[in-house]
Amino acid sequence: MSRLTREYFIGLQKALHKKAIGEPVLVIDMPRLNRNIDKLRADLPADMNYRIVAKSLPIPNLLSHIAKRAHTNRFMSFNAVMTRQVLDHIPKADVLHGKPFTVAAAAQFLQDLPISRRAQVKQIQWLIDSPARYQQYANLARKTGHDLQLNLEIDVGLHRGGLTPGPELEKLLQALAANRQCHLAGFMGYEPHLPKLPNLQGWPARAKNGAWALYGAALDQARAVFGAAHVANMTRNMGGSPTIRMYKNTDLANELAAGSALVKPTDFDTRLLRVFEAASFIAAPVLKVSRKVHFPAAEFADGLMGTPPSETSIFTHGGYWMATPVFPKGLAYNDIFGRSTNQDFMTGPAKLAIEPDDFIFLRPHQSEAVFLQFPKVAVFDGRKISDIWAPFSVSA
Ligand SMILES: Cc1ncc(COP(=O)(O)O)c(C=O)c1O
Repeated sequence: MSRLTREYFIGLQKALHKKAIGEPVLVIDMPRLNRNIDKLRADLPADMNYRIVAKSLPIPNLLSHIAKRAHTNRFMSFNAVMTRQVLDHIPKADVLHGKPFTVAAAAQFLQDLPISRRAQVKQIQWLIDSPARYQQYANLARKTGHDLQLNLEIDVGLHRGGLTPGPELEKLLQALAANRQCHLAGFMGYEPHLPKLPNLQGWPARAKNGAWALYGAALDQARAVFGAAHVANMTRNMGGSPTIRMYKNTDLANELAAGSALVKPTDFDTRLLRVFEAASFIAAPVLKVSRKVHFPAAEFADGLMGTPPSETSIFTHGGYWMATPVFPKGLAYNDIFGRSTNQDFMTGPAKLAIEPDDFIFLRPHQSEAVFLQFPKVAVFDGRKISDIWAPFSVSA
């Protein structure tokens, strides 16, 4: 684990200048990212597979790098364009959809797929959250002649939809068993709420045990219909960055999905994820520096505004990202000026060491939407910018 010191950011700034970068970029720090990948892998229980959450790492080269280093070809995608792009970049990818697609989106995807790529359809698991959605997909399979791999979303307490064990699941499993074109590829149970529950009278432990009991009951129902061997081998997906470190064996899940923890935006600065390092930054050039805070029209206020504070004020190229400034220290947004996506305004201490053309650095709050805002991704190898990547051309 290495600290984010002044030397670190000065070194990163030098590397950006040397590469003649003069516009806002997203920076991926490879040594930090690699340590995160290695930690994630080392922490996985024996035989646990890892599925990369593509929407949280929406840069094709980044996904390929992680897949190689983490030895996985499993991806989780959240929209049709992203699924298509993952399969373009990694033709052997196994893609689980992390949310149900409307049947219209699924039909469009199948229609747009070139004939030469039809074989890739069996690499995709379509998420089914309700009997009605199942029926739509059964009809789609019949109409298009495609065999479809279906993964059932199990509600383990998050209540973002999905199926609960019991008669409804039973009926769906029976329908699937009788369908020759739709196949039970697995279950998905997502539980990011667990680490967020307040520690009141054992609530978190009860919620965790309850989530696992629900998933276990769904697996038992699947065993009764499809047999133990099918359930042993099917995709049993659980987890997300907030919860991956809760799993100690493969009794329930045989794969865990995570993305954000590897680049660690600030929303993931949690106790469970403290071993992971921030590995993504926004670098934005400073366009203007003033050693006074000149509020708009202050000179016409006839003293209403008082004496201008003697602080440093800056305008950056771009701004208003979902991100927190981390270097130089002491920068803050200002309520009077407000925010700007064009030239953001910030103030800092009077003697802040900053000049036009310097960079400020921010940590994104989340990766999935923020990364897509940067056409250029600067890959930092710890000394220099070793490559420039581009993000996916879709929103998550
Ligand atoms: C179904 C599902 N699994 C896993 C994840 C975890 O993604 P991350 O690790 O980036 O939080 C998400 C995130 O939204 C999700 O929706």
